[in-house]
Amino acid sequence: MSNLNLQTVTSVRHWTDTLFSFTCTRDAAFRFENGQFTMVGLEVDGKPLLRAYSIASANYDEELEFFSIKVPDGPLTSRLQHLKTGDTLLIGRKPTGTLIVDNLLPGRVLWLLSTGTGLAPFMSVIRDPSVYDRYDRIVVTHTCRHIRELAYRDYITDSLRTHTFLGEQVREKLIYYPTVTREAFSNVGRITDLIETGKLFTDTGLPSFSTERDRIMLCGSSAMLRDTRALLDARGFAEGNQSVPGHYVVERAFVS
Ligand code: A2P
Repeated sequence: MSNLNLQTVTSVRHWTDTLFSFTCTRDAAFRFENGQFTMVGLEVDGKPLLRAYSIASANYDEELEFFSIKVPDGPLTSRLQHLKTGDTLLIGRKPTGTLIVDNLLPGRVLWLLSTGTGLAPFMSVIRDPSVYDRYDRIVVTHTCRHIRELAYRDYITDSLRTHTFLGEQVREKLIYYPTVTREAFSNVGRITDLIETGKLFTDTGLPSFSTERDRIMLCGSSAMLRDTRALLDARGFAEGNQSVPGHYVVERAFVS
């Protein structure tokens, strides 16, 4: 298991009966870029059982944080959901991933569009001070079926805005736009529909997407990624990656 570190769970938070997050200790040598993912898991019957998880904490944080669904018969999440403080976790030593700002061309507005646990990498990105230096505006959208699934909502609307180091930039530049699709709420609808109808732009007070100004990161279900990608491609946006930066970058929300 030389490609894995053993770390200790330091906290577990259950958001709903299907969503939870957890933190663990971090190896001093573990380095990552905000927005990346790594392998996370448990030793089961003497073997590592691992899945890719986006890191939700920022790369300067002392601990690592992850946000997960609970799949009742999922080999890993059915076990992980019973994590307790003090348990041992396996953490991959080699983080990777496309949702990093260096994979984007320079721009003025950064849109972070997520569904479900796809919010995780963006929790890291919106805690990155250099992101506030690079962009005039950062918009994080989180679409879930139900209001109770809008995890981190209080953190983003309260704690982050009063954060000792980031608070001022957050208050000036960050727009949080939560939406739900299966009950009444201040914002309702799929992100794809909100883009197409223009409601996203009216509500945020920002102009609709332009390849010159807007840079976009997508993280969510395969269906959400497929449809949002099609919509961006139709507007002339080009996908970026490690070798060629583009107007947008994409990562599937892991663990299903
Ligand atoms: P909806 O309730 O209309 O299906 P899921 O839990 O299925 O991954 O969905 C998470 C959120 O993503 C839900 O609000 C869901 O809306 C939305 N969603 C599902 N499919 C798409 C899609 N193709 N494009 C945009 N949003 C989607």
